[in-house]
Amino acid sequence: MLAISDTGSATRTGDAVPRQHVAELRAESVSVDFGGLRALNDVTLALSTGDLLGLIGPNGAGKTTLLNVLTGFQRPTAGQVHLDGETGSRWTPQQWVRKGVARTFQGARVFGRLTVRENVEVGAVAVGASRAEAGEQADALVRHYGLGEYAQRRAETLPAGLRRRLGIARALASQPRFLLLDEPAAGLNDSERAELVGLVQEISDEGRCGVVIVEHSMPVIMRLCRRIHVLDGGQTLMEGTPEEVRNDPDVRAAYLGAT
Ligand SMILES: Nc1ncnc2c1ncn2[C@@H]1O[C@H](COP(=O)(O)OP(=O)(O)OP(=O)(O)O)[C@@H](O)[C@H]1O
Ligand SMILES: [Mg+2]
Repeated sequence: MLAISDTGSATRTGDAVPRQHVAELRAESVSVDFGGLRALNDVTLALSTGDLLGLIGPNGAGKTTLLNVLTGFQRPTAGQVHLDGETGSRWTPQQWVRKGVARTFQGARVFGRLTVRENVEVGAVAVGASRAEAGEQADALVRHYGLGEYAQRRAETLPAGLRRRLGIARALASQPRFLLLDEPAAGLNDSERAELVGLVQEISDEGRCGVVIVEHSMPVIMRLCRRIHVLDGGQTLMEGTPEEVRNDPDVRAAYLGAT
């Protein structure tokens, strides 16, 4: 059974996972090797329900690889990932979604041939919703995220800003406890970007989800996040408040200075 609130979010009654419970998602000393290339080296990162964590670093720093490890798309070469104390290092992407960890992909990957509504339905079906439940939930999310007038359009016909929103609505259809966003504002114009910031803020304020946002736009990160984790060359450079990150000489050298 799905209960859909007027904000468009839904809770599945009788679910094995209590949604209000404060959960923790953790990467513990994670390393990832691609042949001779060490893409991640001994990275530890943790967040809880309600956190909004920024993940930044120059191109190739390992940000996407870390999200991949936290969602089952990449097995760690060393180290572990945990969700609420359970070890998930060998879970498949589908298992991660069912456990409550959803993501969006760099470059706003959506199912272009499916309609906007169908894209969101897929997110609900992925965690076991019936077609009827998924449809109901898709309608609520599509409406809530301002996609109502595009509901029957193929996703590939949407402009970039709306496609990003659709990617997020689809991820939310799985009722995640954690939402990992890979460069959701890349390529957006100023007004689309401001809209996206508002949307992410709203999701975080609702308090059901912990959010990780990977983003190159420093204004977006600085505005949204209370805590920022900085990667460089696969290693953690630092983690701190926006203020600490802004003033850190190593970060300036590695990242801010380069942009
Ligand atoms: N499947 C793969 N096979 C081989 N090398 C990979 C693979 N995925 C990533 N890499 C390499 O691992 C390093 C980290 O890549 P990753 O995509 O995680 O960086 P990123 O921080 O997300 O960069 P960007 O800001 O450009 O998205 C890069 O050197 C990249 O070329
Ligand atoms: Mg990336």
